[in-house]
Amino acid sequence: MPSFPTGFLWGSATAAHQVEGGNHNNDWWDWEHDPASPAVESSGDAIDHLHRYDADFALLASSGQNAHRLSLEWSRIEPAPGEFSRAALDHYARVLDSLAAHGLTAFVTLYHFTLPRWFAARGGWLADDALEIFGRYVEHVTTALGDRMPYVCTINEPQIVALGCYLNGEFPPGHQDVGEAIACNATLGQAHRTAVEAIRAASGTPKIGTCLHLPYIEPLRPGDDADEGAAGMARAVMVDHHIDDLRAGGDVGDWVGLQYYTRTRMDASGGGLDTAPPPEGAETTLMGWEVHPAGFGVMLRRIAETGLPVVVTENGIATADDAQRVRYLDSHLTELERAMADGVDIRGYLYWSSFDNFEWARGYAPTFGLVGVDRADGYRREPRRSAQLFGEVARSGDLTA
Ligand code: NOJ
Repeated sequence: MPSFPTGFLWGSATAAHQVEGGNHNNDWWDWEHDPASPAVESSGDAIDHLHRYDADFALLASSGQNAHRLSLEWSRIEPAPGEFSRAALDHYARVLDSLAAHGLTAFVTLYHFTLPRWFAARGGWLADDALEIFGRYVEHVTTALGDRMPYVCTINEPQIVALGCYLNGEFPPGHQDVGEAIACNATLGQAHRTAVEAIRAASGTPKIGTCLHLPYIEPLRPGDDADEGAAGMARAVMVDHHIDDLRAGGDVGDWVGLQYYTRTRMDASGGGLDTAPPPEGAETTLMGWEVHPAGFGVMLRRIAETGLPVVVTENGIATADDAQRVRYLDSHLTELERAMADGVDIRGYLYWSSFDNFEWARGYAPTFGLVGVDRADGYRREPRRSAQLFGEVARSGDLTA
């Protein structure tokens, strides 16, 4: 008996800047080329998905996937304030048509970490008119492409944007300022609502969601007051705030995306909010993250408290050993199956990532892909065994097949 229902959405995900190549008009491009930034290399031509999307989608569909998540590159669509590029919108129309032609249901992210250079220059999310600017972009995109977008994700990982851009300084503009991080986090919560309004006004087609990064947060020493306090604080900012936002009423969309990778253990012994390394002997990934499938089960149940249908919009592993990826998939899909058996309303699972790609400040070394890419050999795609096995689960709806 297949354990996953017919119609369940099975696919994988990418984001424009990580795969397209040549995105030289955004804040990340500048960051990658700034010797003072922590970015280890330039995205360059990425994996040239800009030109290869059709063959890429054919490959994913032929492996058994029936859905795909990608993002639109805002800096291509709105290269200057209020100026929208017909050529870029036409390009994305062709991309979305290609997805549909290959039988892949599209999840389209409107903002995935990169800002047009001009918007970053006026303060990005901290600019006074950030919400108006984002709303105008969303309205324009939805008017042009709405009927090609069955699912829209407004904002990718608002908490990670706030954290990376304004607290740990890993993302541009690289600030380390608690006040700015809190302001950014709050603005992104509002930006989701702004986007929902703009989309509803422009098109009735898209089912709308936001994609939340929800780590499983625990104290390093359970029972230790300081660590428990630190874990509570981290949870409040990273998890509770965003879940409460979605429960606060009003139109918050039609579904919610969960992005889960690991457990985070909070260590208050240094007097602050530090994260502890994975426990001795724990299985880890090329990102240095602990493999912790049980935390996925916990967070699936937690996000269900929003009352919205859930789509897993990211879950995956960076590893040089594809057999480890297969085990990761198996253990996490088992958690997914259990959560569904317990009544959590989950509509789809999108593995991160379809292809090896540009992992932000860490460059190309962390390989997340179901499909490998040889950038030194004409960007050759190398489907892995994990891609085949994942496709078989997608086709049969059965984990034990
Ligand atoms: C979350 C982000 O959305 C994605 O861009 C990133 O590559 C993965 N996590 C892995 O870190």
